[in-house]
Amino acid sequence: MNKISISVFILIVASSNIHASEKLTLDTVRIDLNNKPSLQRGAQIYINNCLGCHTLQYQRYSRLVTDLGIPKEILQKNLIFTSDRHGQPSKLGSLMINSVNPNASAEAFGIHPPDLSLIARSRGPDWVYTFLNSFYYDQQRPMGVNNYLYPNINMPHVLWWMEGIKEKSTGTDKVSYIVEGNMSDREYKAAITDLVNFLTYVSEPAQLKRYKLGFWVVSFLAFFAFIAFLLKQEYWKDVE
Ligand code: HEC
Repeated sequence: MNKISISVFILIVASSNIHASEKLTLDTVRIDLNNKPSLQRGAQIYINNCLGCHTLQYQRYSRLVTDLGIPKEILQKNLIFTSDRHGQPSKLGSLMINSVNPNASAEAFGIHPPDLSLIARSRGPDWVYTFLNSFYYDQQRPMGVNNYLYPNINMPHVLWWMEGIKEKSTGTDKVSYIVEGNMSDREYKAAITDLVNFLTYVSEPAQLKRYKLGFWVVSFLAFFAFIAFLLKQEYWKDVE
């Protein structure tokens, strides 16, 4: 192959990839890492519904206290369900992992549920949000659901009890449900916004620190600009 045909080939392969990932437009999620109550709710939803299968192997429980302000006692009593090797509840300093045997889960789902520490970075918050909103009823699939964004996914729709199970879209705006959940559409979207907000924080906890630091940096710059302005006035007073 000469150079031109190689580059044409690469172009075709690249554009077919772009095509595949752009089939569905992503919904936009409003991330707000300053919203602690949202991050706390997201952590709770994650621990109750996702941690059983998906670890957060770089995150320690203790950071939920220091970063998100969840009181220690509440965390220990209500959000730590795992235990250590001696059967004692996991310590605050433990990593947020689970005890799923990779072989067993691979056998059950055909694939081991991946760690989600970096999912908000690798896929992007909008992707994860759209993904959680894209499950629909599909009898053909082993889990009874399929996903518009991730066709033939092997994950069950674990939040069905919140959202309900949607019928496959018929192209109209109206969504109908095979099974009703205990939340309205708006409530469900708010809940998964909290969840994705939490996963975005997890994907880079240092962001929170940067936000705080950013506030001081901008305040300092504003203060300094004010001083510079006063100085300028002082210097130019006699000239003008
Ligand atoms: C019963 C186990 C189970 C639970 C609980 C579960 N998942 Fe999954 N999840 C899976 C499996 C298995 C896959 C891999 C599916 C595949 O690749 O076909 C997966 C894949 C994913 C992916 C795609 C990862 C990728 O490949 O990019 C995301 C995102 C995800 N899960 C998010 C969640 C969230 C958020 C929750 C909690 C609301 C959750 N999952 C709960 C089993 C689970």
